[in-house]
Amino acid sequence: MHHPLFLPLLLALLLLGACGQVPSTDPAEAPATGNAPEAEILEDVQERGRYLVTVLGCGDCHSPKVMGPQGPVPDPDRLLSGHPAGSQLPPYDATTTTGWVLFAMDQTATVGPWGTSFAANLTSDATGIGLWTEEMFDKALRGGWYKGIEGGRRLLPPMPWQGYTSLTDADVHAIYTYLVSTAAVENVVPPPIPPGTN
Ligand code: HEC
Repeated sequence: MHHPLFLPLLLALLLLGACGQVPSTDPAEAPATGNAPEAEILEDVQERGRYLVTVLGCGDCHSPKVMGPQGPVPDPDRLLSGHPAGSQLPPYDATTTTGWVLFAMDQTATVGPWGTSFAANLTSDATGIGLWTEEMFDKALRGGWYKGIEGGRRLLPPMPWQGYTSLTDADVHAIYTYLVSTAAVENVVPPPIPPGTN
């Protein structure tokens, strides 16, 4: 004996299948982002840059957040603009940071053995990377040099530049092309705070 719901359910599934509305489970067929069709991402340098910035999670640290139902989400008005200048970090117990790394709620500031670091402004504004050459950007992203100045200081954690040394020239070019196309957000990110001084 079939369950009384079985036949209607089967019919409904068949109908859905016939209309092509059953979602594909093949990842190759799924769109790479919600923003642009795959062909565009592959062909358009700026779209590819946006795709890479999305999947590499640059905004996890570089975008200020607003509170959503499940916690902080990127603020669409301040995407990639870095740790907001003038915002007050909440107090923390310094003994905790001997064994833990602390992320501020919006993930733009982090406390660890290196002190407190603040995610940079990556927008096209002059306070971001708007005045940077592609070479400077490359030296920062793949070389880990602050402001792209070789021989200056190395970028602090949690900026994961060591992993980004494996990016190809074409990917760095695409990321730079996208970032200099972003909406300019004026924001002078504070310098890092050395350990033991806050
Ligand atoms: C896990 C957090 C995190 C992620 C992910 C991250 N960054 Fe960063 N980034 C930082 C922090 C923090 C700094 C500041 C480090 C410092 O002051 O030394 C930084 C610094 C930078 C700088 C140097 C800015 C300057 O003024 O010298 C560039 C360029 C940069 N990030 C680009 C990127 C890009 C592009 C991505 C994605 C491909 C990315 N970051 C992903 C945290 C992150």
